Parts: sequence; C-alpha cells; structure tokens
Amino acid sequence: MDAIVLLREDHKTVEKLFKQFEKAGEDAYDEKRKLVDQMIEELTAHAYIEEEIFYPAARAAAPDTVDHVLESVEEHHVVVWMLSELKNMDPRDERFDAKVTVLMENVRHHVEEEENEWFPEVRKAMGRNKLQELCDEMVKAKGRAPSEPLAVSSARQ
Ligand SMILES: [Fe+2]
Ligand SMILES: [Fe+2]
Repeated sequence: MDAIVLLREDHKTVEKLFKQFEKAGEDAYDEKRKLVDQMIEELTAHAYIEEEIFYPAARAAAPDTVDHVLESVEEHHVVVWMLSELKNMDPRDERFDAKVTVLMENVRHHVEEEENEWFPEVRKAMGRNKLQELCDEMVKAKGRAPSEPLAVSSARQ
C-alpha cells in the first residue's frame, strides 16, 4: 500500500456510489439520500487527507506541478460547497438530482486529471519509501477527518 494506491481506492469507492446513484429509480428517495450521505462522508474525508497531507507533500516533491495542485484545490472548493448544499437538500427537491449530476461530473473530471496526468509525475518525483510513509500518515489522518464538508480547508480558500 502506498499513498497513491490509497487515493485510487478512495476514487473507486466513490465511483461505485455514483454508479449506484445513476441506477437508482427516479423516486427512490430514501436510497438516493443514503447514497448522497455516503458520498458526503467519503469525499469529505478524501479531500481532507489530500489537502492536509498529500497535496503539500506532492507540491514539495514535484514543484513543477504547482499549477495542478492549485487547480485541484479550486475544484475541491466547488465540490465541498456542493456537498454542504446536498447535506441539507431534500431528495424530493427538483434540483437534487441536477446537483448530484453536476457534482459527479466535477468529481469524475477531477479524478481523471489526478490519476492520468498528475499521479504519475508525483510517483516519479517521490519514490516508493516516501509514498509508503505518506500512506501511513494519511490512514491516521482519515481517523480524524471531519464529517462536515465545510471544515475542509479548501472551503475557506
Ligand atoms: Fe483531489
Ligand atoms: Fe483524489
């Protein structure tokens, strides 16, 4: 296990929730509420460990990728605000599905860029030992991750 493998696992978990949401019936309100609550929990913890640990370490190890890091934080900013809106939105609200759809588009785009463009560069710059060390730190940080999306630092940036 290393830091990048851990982050990819999180991405997969979230993608599974997205697929389940897309399969849920139009009026499966309870199921959709439950899935969105899980998305909020997973994505908040994931954004937290990336912002607290992985992003700063990657920026230090691969300074050439700073533009990517800064764009990623902006994307997190949008995502955590959308999560905080969804937290308080009734799944019967006519805007609920639309908001989840745009959330999923944003996250999929973000994940694709992380995995395809950025992680390979970070892996090269960091090396195996550092990635394993970061993984341990991130697992610990997950245990203290907030459940409130707006408690993630990108919400205030
Ligand atoms: Fe991210
Ligand atoms: Fe990520």
